[in-house]
Amino acid sequence: MRVFSGIRPTGSLHLGNYLGAMRQWIAIQEKEDCVFCVVDLHAITTPYDQKQLKANIFELAVDYLAAGLNPEKCILFIQSTVKEHTELAWLLGTVTPLGELKRMTQFKDKSKQHPEYVNAGLLNYPILMAADILLYQTDLVPIGKDQQQHVELTREIVRDFNNRFGQVFKEPRALLPQIGDKIMSLAEPEKKMSKTGNQKGCIGLFEEPESIKLKIMAAVTDTGKEIRYNPSKKPGISNLLTIYSLASGKPIDQLEKEFDKKRYSDFKKSLAEYLAGYLEPFRRKRTELLTREVYVNDILKRGSQKALTVAQSTMQEVKTAMGLEI
Ligand code: TRP
Repeated sequence: MRVFSGIRPTGSLHLGNYLGAMRQWIAIQEKEDCVFCVVDLHAITTPYDQKQLKANIFELAVDYLAAGLNPEKCILFIQSTVKEHTELAWLLGTVTPLGELKRMTQFKDKSKQHPEYVNAGLLNYPILMAADILLYQTDLVPIGKDQQQHVELTREIVRDFNNRFGQVFKEPRALLPQIGDKIMSLAEPEKKMSKTGNQKGCIGLFEEPESIKLKIMAAVTDTGKEIRYNPSKKPGISNLLTIYSLASGKPIDQLEKEFDKKRYSDFKKSLAEYLAGYLEPFRRKRTELLTREVYVNDILKRGSQKALTVAQSTMQEVKTAMGLEI
């Protein structure tokens, strides 16, 4: 099966990204035919600084590799280096109803967030995403719940396109993380962990051990003393239990037994130690890769060439079907 996904280069990965999305990618690259992309063209639909963007693109590629994506097992590349993405987006734009784009939740949210920056690219964002997915005849799209609506729209585009021009595209399916979407902020456990939210609530995948420990020890807990999983009554402790369980592979009920009658502080100390050790190899790998610019760029170049071969073949078919080429 073909798998495609992408992340916008808007800053370093955090623990929630990893335990939710990235781990699934790393597992699936062993079994399926995977394409993973740094979606830089999506990143420019919201306000950004061009020097920062350039650095972020390279760093996200490094982060992908440090987190465990293996360029021998998947195609890894930067979206803007394969021009077919924008070409297909234009063509798909002519079969996408304007009304559908205007009712996308992300478009409405981002327009509200940046009222001075409501550009046509932001409206057309889901068309470019559909192009990303369809260029590679994708079956499965691992994404967070917030992106599900865009995959649904992609499916509608496929149906309309195929109806009108003949069977060209496959209908992709979204693959949602089972638990990862529920990694919450350590500081505000009712909100998702996010790199743009409260910094004390967010642990970077490559954060220093000392700072990880401080954040875990300062994490908001709940009234009472018991270390029990109960997301509605004990959102703070439940979030920490989820993190501990995902990182260590120990089931939550086993952790509850292990920390039965222990204090919150004992539990946090143990989690802090564990996490610092768990994340250390990621940090080491990232530090090393940041100094090997030529090596990383070479991986991206090869990825881009492999992607291009598939993309060109799809474009040929699409243009022929649409009457653009004889
Ligand atoms: N829109 C996605 C996000 O914000 C990123 C993305 C762009 C993507 N193109 C994609 C995800 C194609 C999956 C498939 O998370």
